[in-house]
Amino acid sequence: MVSCHRLTLASLQLCLFLLVSLTDSRSLKCSPGKVCPDRPPVVLIPGDLGNQLEVKLDKPSVVHFFCCKKTKDYVPVWLNLESLLPGFIDCWIDNMRLLYNRTSHLTEAPPGVDVRVPGFGLTYSLEHLDSSILPMIKYFFTIVQALVEIGYTRNDDVRGAPYDWRKAPNENKEYFLRLKQMIEEMANKAGGPVVLIAHSMGNMYTLYFLQKQTQAWKDLYIKAFVSLGSPWAGVAKTLKAMATGENDHIPFIEPLKIRTLQRTAVSTAWLLPFAHTWPKDMVLVSTSNTSYTVQDYKRFFKDIDYEDGWAMRQDTEALVNALNPPGVTVHCLYGSGIPTPQGYNYTNFSDTNPTVINGDGDGTVNLLSATLCKHWENNQKQPVYTVELPGIQHISILSNEKTVNYIKNVLLPP
Ligand SMILES: *[C@@H]1O[C@H](CO)[C@@H](O)[C@H](O)[C@H]1NC(C)=O
Ligand SMILES: *[C@@H]1O[C@H](CO)[C@@H](O)[C@H](O)[C@H]1NC(C)=O
Ligand SMILES: *[C@@H]1O[C@H](CO)[C@@H](O)[C@H](O)[C@H]1NC(C)=O
Ligand SMILES: *[C@@H]1O[C@H](CO)[C@@H](O)[C@H](O)[C@H]1NC(C)=O
Repeated sequence: MVSCHRLTLASLQLCLFLLVSLTDSRSLKCSPGKVCPDRPPVVLIPGDLGNQLEVKLDKPSVVHFFCCKKTKDYVPVWLNLESLLPGFIDCWIDNMRLLYNRTSHLTEAPPGVDVRVPGFGLTYSLEHLDSSILPMIKYFFTIVQALVEIGYTRNDDVRGAPYDWRKAPNENKEYFLRLKQMIEEMANKAGGPVVLIAHSMGNMYTLYFLQKQTQAWKDLYIKAFVSLGSPWAGVAKTLKAMATGENDHIPFIEPLKIRTLQRTAVSTAWLLPFAHTWPKDMVLVSTSNTSYTVQDYKRFFKDIDYEDGWAMRQDTEALVNALNPPGVTVHCLYGSGIPTPQGYNYTNFSDTNPTVINGDGDGTVNLLSATLCKHWENNQKQPVYTVELPGIQHISILSNEKTVNYIKNVLLPP
């Protein structure tokens, strides 16, 4: 029952703490007594792993005697620092994994596991990823705080749209209805259109959403779409996650264990590099006797012995074609100049440490994927501004001063 409780583990916290940049930035305060200009309402759309999740358990069986079998209520499951400890991580993965049904093409939670997304419409579940009393793992916090300092109010004119990031849009239909309703409510209350700010995979969610709306609706309700570090054409890192697991160099997370979660999360298959942009002959994965490009996913999934992955890819590949523009004003910001995996050399798939072939990008998103938004410049009437941020890494783009100042200028032009 230990894992039902919430311990405090300073060293683990420190380790995860360091993964997220902590820069803060303050200025342009809308001080009392000063007349503040009209502000467009803001909706934040997080990326993969980018908002809290909760779980309620009543499981028929568990993987270790010390795993929690039953909880009285919903408890934090992402991000709950102690659940990532050796041993406990097995319990956690067994709760976070999904079961894919190749007949219905839908996923479900394992028996007795109920995962829910807390805080839709609020900001807390994406400002920080942990729900500790003094939360430590900042995500959208710096941006929200900067907006508050120029006159915004949390949960009123800046709101969050968290979702179950393990899934692709095809399994989050309800989410898009709620998102649309929230945008309309906020726009009506403010008497003007909304600015959407998305990070990472949240941009693909946002593009999916916008491509589904009529131009008349977008003209009425959307002022601009600020995109941070978007994988418009997928990311090569997903190949390693699928093949042998990606622990992002966190030493106490075993790749083959985290792979279970990464494989069964449909969003991983959805973000494999897309053939519309990736060079057809670029080797993504090689072994001692074969190689795989963007055209070889069927064979790749067969060879890694995970054919559900091929089915998931086929279910999700056409959900968003990022060559098609969103039809709203876009500000596309992305980091560059950081070694970013673009291919992996394995001797064979028993090897969890392939040689990484790096290319340009933000450390996670490959540059050729992040820059796809440039393609829209001549494909839509609305302006497309692209801003390359050299040296700015995928997560730290959320706390970088340049990003924050850019966003402030979009919201309140000087
Ligand atoms: C998979 O989906 C099909 C069709 O919806 C359903 O009949 C079947 O019971 C499901 N299988 C499992 C194991 O849930
Ligand atoms: C990776 O493998 C390819 C063959 O598939 C080879 O040409 C290349 O040199 C290898 N790169 C590294 C860094 O080992
Ligand atoms: C490559 O080698 C593996 C064993 O290491 C074998 O299972 C597989 O069939 C081989 N593939 C090809 C295309 O020869
Ligand atoms: C697979 O690769 C690992 C690590 O490089 C090596 O130790 C192992 O012998 C290889 N297995 C086969 C069947 O080639």
